[in-house]
Amino acid sequence: MQLNAVDTAARLSVAPMMDWTDRHCRIFHRLMSRETLLYTEMVTAPALVRGGAVHLLDYSPEEHPVAVQLGGSDPEELAQATKLCVAHGYDEVNLNVGCPSDRVQSGTFGAVLMKDPGLVAECASAMIGAADGVEVTVKCRIGVDDQDPVVVLPNFLDRVTGAGVRRFAIHARKAWLQGLSPKENRDIPPLDYPLVHRMKAERPDLHLSINGGIHSLDEAARHLAAGMDGAMIGRAAYHQPADVLMTADSRMFGRPDPFNDPRDVVRAMLPYIEAHVSAGGKLAQVTKHMLGVFAGQPGARHWKRVLSERAHKPGAGPELVEAAMMELA
Ligand SMILES: Cc1cc2nc3c(=O)[nH]c(=O)nc-3n(C[C@H](O)[C@H](O)[C@H](O)COP(=O)(O)O)c2cc1C
Repeated sequence: MQLNAVDTAARLSVAPMMDWTDRHCRIFHRLMSRETLLYTEMVTAPALVRGGAVHLLDYSPEEHPVAVQLGGSDPEELAQATKLCVAHGYDEVNLNVGCPSDRVQSGTFGAVLMKDPGLVAECASAMIGAADGVEVTVKCRIGVDDQDPVVVLPNFLDRVTGAGVRRFAIHARKAWLQGLSPKENRDIPPLDYPLVHRMKAERPDLHLSINGGIHSLDEAARHLAAGMDGAMIGRAAYHQPADVLMTADSRMFGRPDPFNDPRDVVRAMLPYIEAHVSAGGKLAQVTKHMLGVFAGQPGARHWKRVLSERAHKPGAGPELVEAAMMELA
């Protein structure tokens, strides 16, 4: 398989997570890894096209390589949304076929689309037609409800590949559309890594990333050794960002790591924080994504407590971040 620069970055990616992987979070993650592919939160095509909420696509140039995730199920609307994403300069446009939340189900998009691979193929084809050569990818589950993943997943991949998609991220568990909350749907349905590994073995021409329950770079590396093209990490990257991202460049990409000490990462965030606060933003909007950076280190609890209790207060700024770091060993 011929890899382009974004495929290469997808060796490791931080998963799209609503309310978590916003632009502040991505700036912070990007400081720790220059190479890892970062995903936006899901942006819905109706919000962009009908609601005119194009500001949802704003990001900073230093976030590259960065992929935008779209939610939707109307091919024409997704095509228009894709055009907007491409005009903003995103490196990839990803379609969400994995998110089980009620709100998303009511608009017929997200994981419920696993039941309609023909519609996903139509959506993907319309998006590719509008993408001006920017890669269109799909993030999916292995199935939903009482579907049999062994039957459904290969069929889904083949139908959507037929529309021209060649890169997928697969969350290796089913979603139950009734009866489980979105949070439970990320934990309760069992993971089936062997099935996803087999999809890759049987489809060497596709670029497949595996997602779900990967806690560390060691685990990510094991999936790559098993033949996967990429590992996508969500919650662990958010809650232990330094553990997952600070050595990602050397371990996953053979490149030098930007920082060895999480305190230096925090210091490097200060100018960004200063600019954000000066422009009228709240400190907590940025620091809420940084609470886990010292996870496992002495003083980590103090760091978290100071920021959780005080960063939302009026006037809080970079000096609070420096003060919160004082107790660290
Ligand atoms: C807070 C939160 C929000 C999420 N939002 C999205 C989303 O917008 N789009 C999506 O495809 N997946 C979303 N997910 C699912 C993640 O992308 C990922 O598939 C899931 O958490 C499993 O990976 P993990 O075990 O590494 O966390 C979300 C997960 C969390 C925890």
